[in-house]
Amino acid sequence: MRFIVVKDLSPEAARARTVRAVADVLKKVGKTEILSFDASLIKRLTKDDVIFNLAIGKRHDFLQGTISAIMEGLGNEFVGSPAYTHYVCLDKFTTKSLLNSYGIPTPAGTLFDGSYFVGDIPAPPLIVKPVAEGSGIGVESDSLCDSIEMAKKVAKKKFEEFKEPIIIEKYLDGAELTVGVIGFGSELKVLPSLEIDFSNLPKGVERFYSKRVKEEYASQTIYRCPALLSEKVQREVLDIAKKTFEVTKARDYLRIDMRLDKDQPYVIEVNSMPGLDPQNSDIPKMIKAMSKDYEWLIKYVIKRAIQSLEVQE
Ligand SMILES: Nc1ncnc2c1ncn2[C@@H]1O[C@H](COP(=O)(O)OP(=O)(O)OP(=O)(O)O)[C@@H](O)[C@H]1O
Ligand SMILES: [Mg+2]
Repeated sequence: MRFIVVKDLSPEAARARTVRAVADVLKKVGKTEILSFDASLIKRLTKDDVIFNLAIGKRHDFLQGTISAIMEGLGNEFVGSPAYTHYVCLDKFTTKSLLNSYGIPTPAGTLFDGSYFVGDIPAPPLIVKPVAEGSGIGVESDSLCDSIEMAKKVAKKKFEEFKEPIIIEKYLDGAELTVGVIGFGSELKVLPSLEIDFSNLPKGVERFYSKRVKEEYASQTIYRCPALLSEKVQREVLDIAKKTFEVTKARDYLRIDMRLDKDQPYVIEVNSMPGLDPQNSDIPKMIKAMSKDYEWLIKYVIKRAIQSLEVQE
C-alpha cells in the first residue's frame, strides 16, 4: 500500500501547510508521495494506492468533486467523500433542497437565478449570499437585509458581481455552531461542536461570519469548544449532524455549519472537504477539545479507505 497526497499545482500557504501535515502523519503509517493534480497523475497511480486529495482547484471548477469522480471511475481507493457529496454540497441551494426533502431543518429561503426568484421570499430579516462560494466570499455587511425590497436589490447587485445565482434566506440570529463528523459506519463520530461567538466584535461590525470578520476580526472572535448548549439542543445537533452525513452520502470527514433559532438548530451549509490545517482549521480545534491530537485525527480519517483496500486484496 502507498499513500498519494494530491495537491494543487500552487497551493496557497494554509493549503501547503495542510499537505505537509497530512503527509507527515501518513509517512508514519506507510510509503507516502505528494503529487500535484495534472494530466500525469492518473498514469502514476496503481491499485495499491490510497489517494488523499487536498486539491481544490480554482474558483467554480469544483475540482474536489472531479478528482473523486476520476478515482471512482478508475476504481482507485481514496479518503473522503464521493463525487456526489461534493457536487451536492458545493451548491448551497441543492444542499438545502436535499436536506429539506429528508426533514432536516434549513432556513426558509429562495434563489435568484438572474431573472427569477425561485419561490417565495420569506419574511425579513434576510441574508443574501452567493450559492457556491466559500471563505465568506460574497457574505458582507450588506448581506443582512431588513426588507424584501432591499434583499431583492442586494441579490441583483451580488448576481452582477459574482456571476452566479444568489440565495435569499431567513436570517437566524441565534448562536453559530460548526460541527465535525469523522469516520464511517459503526466508527462514525460527531465531534464536540465549536461555537463561534461574535459578541466581542467592535460596534457596527456584523454579527455573522462575513468575509471581513473571517479575515480581519479573527482575534476578537471567540471560539468555544465544546459549545455551551443545553442537553436538548446538543441531542438535536447530534441527530442533525448524523442525518446530514448520511443523506449527503459523506465519508470520512465532513463539517456542518449551523445556526440556532430559538434553540432549534438549522443547517446553513455543508463543507464536503473541510479544512485540515493544523493551525487554523475548525476540525483540528474540535480534536484538541477531545484531548486528542492531529495524528490521531488523520489516522482516524484514513481507516475506512485502508480497510476497504485490504478487503480488495
Ligand atoms: N441563514 C443564515 N442566518 C444567519 N447567518 C447566516 C445564514 N447564512 C449564512 N450566515 C452567516 O454567513 C456566514 C457564511 O455563510 P456560509 O457558511 O453559507 O458561507 P461560506 O462562505 O461558504 O462559509 P465557509 O467558509 O464555511 O465555506 C455563516 O457562517 C453565518 O455566520
Ligand atoms: Mg460556512
